[in-house]
Amino acid sequence: MTRKRFVAGNWKMNTNRASAVALAEGVAKLVPSGDVGGGAVDVGVAVPFVYIDAVGRAIAGSGVMLGAQDVYFEKDGAFTGEISIAMLVDLGVKFVLVGHSERRHVIGEKPDLLAKKAKAILDAGLILVHCVGEKLDERDANKTLDVVKAQLDELPATLADASKLVIAYEPVWAIGTGRNATDAQAQEVHAFIRGELSRRYGQAFAEAVRIQYGGSMKPENAAGLLAQPDVDGGLIGGAALKAESFLAIVRA
Ligand code: PGA
Repeated sequence: MTRKRFVAGNWKMNTNRASAVALAEGVAKLVPSGDVGGGAVDVGVAVPFVYIDAVGRAIAGSGVMLGAQDVYFEKDGAFTGEISIAMLVDLGVKFVLVGHSERRHVIGEKPDLLAKKAKAILDAGLILVHCVGEKLDERDANKTLDVVKAQLDELPATLADASKLVIAYEPVWAIGTGRNATDAQAQEVHAFIRGELSRRYGQAFAEAVRIQYGGSMKPENAAGLLAQPDVDGGLIGGAALKAESFLAIVRA
């Protein structure tokens, strides 16, 4: 089964209006059709809410997919400060991250909230990038697979369209630290995730789901990680803030 790779930049709480547009233009220029590497790679950027509109304009007509870093699950109403899926769709957003480690561990979002977000995104027909990953003490205590398994429980019990689900495996100790998982560490967890998806949703579904690696992925280590059989792309933080390094990973 050949899965189309998916490399997404997660800009986090970085950029301003001018630098977001400049970065978006830089990426769009080199991803004219989305068919990097002969159609082998989907490329996306998950940008701060307030710049989604401007970035959407900057990448219009290119092959770059517009993404958001979070969303609220309710349709509309009295939810001060929150952003709905309809608002994101309105701006052309195609994929949304849920459960990024900073949302889980810095902001404090809990599994039941993440489950509601995941369901709402899938119900709306958008691509869900569901982020999972263990903290260092959990890895040291040999709990990595248990933690990841529990985080996969946030997904709906039945799922039909594998093209709308992406899992991002991001070991928390590797995010923003410069210390990436080894190729073998990534592959072990990715294979476990695919096995769990197979058990829950069937083998054909699991074989079609893209599983991204995230956590200090950069041009120097991307090729090795992406050569692993169950690593289908990357979710890139720091290295996505410069068009050249992000595109070097896309090319890898
Ligand atoms: P990093 O972030 O590439 O800066 O480690 C990855 C992520 O948090 O998505």
